[in-house]
Amino acid sequence: MNLKDLGLRNGINEVIGITFGDWINTAPLGIIIEDDRTRSAKVRLYSNHTRKNVSKKGELWFNIIHDPVIFAKCSFDDLGEEEFENFNPPIIKSAMAWGRFKAVLKGAYAHLTLEDGEILRKDLKAVNRGFNAVIEALVHATRLLSTKDEELREKVEYYLNIARKCGGERERTACEIIEGATGIK
Ligand SMILES: Cc1cc2nc3c(=O)[nH]c(=O)nc-3n(C[C@H](O)[C@H](O)[C@H](O)COP(=O)(O)O)c2cc1C
Repeated sequence: MNLKDLGLRNGINEVIGITFGDWINTAPLGIIIEDDRTRSAKVRLYSNHTRKNVSKKGELWFNIIHDPVIFAKCSFDDLGEEEFENFNPPIIKSAMAWGRFKAVLKGAYAHLTLEDGEILRKDLKAVNRGFNAVIEALVHATRLLSTKDEELREKVEYYLNIARKCGGERERTACEIIEGATGIK
């Protein structure tokens, strides 16, 4: 099995990273891949719970998922147990695939080697600008909260507008979560 077999491609792949500490920690992460025909990848980890758990356990699980609400919830909080359909391996309801990396921290990055994984479902989906805009809004919203750089507020608002215009019900729910976390209305 290589990265491509699990739906990961060259470039940056936005997934939900799952780590185990005192609780199940969930956070959107960008898995960076140079050659998807291999098992090697890396992820830049800022100072967060994911980094702490990776340094203790040496592993990083991930789910590939297309639900904007899950991305929004995981950006600001951890998922409740009721959001999972399985814990070993950890699988969030509606995940398309799960995987497990061996993870070795070196400076700002964790170097990853794919060790296990499985495709769970294959849902056909057209590109939706609303979903993409939720992801962009979340990237800027999480940076806004961690850096307190108020200029990022405009970017969050810009992408929220697109998400509301082009998205469906799940994208609009994700927008409400982002508004609640950032105080943007
Ligand atoms: C789409 C997206 C991608 C992200 N990628 C990363 C990443 O690669 N590395 C990272 O440290 N944080 C990344 N973040 C930010 C974290 O998900 C966010 O700070 C989260 O709250 C960290 O949670 P934790 O403290 O539970 O680990 C990303 C956020 C989003 C929305």
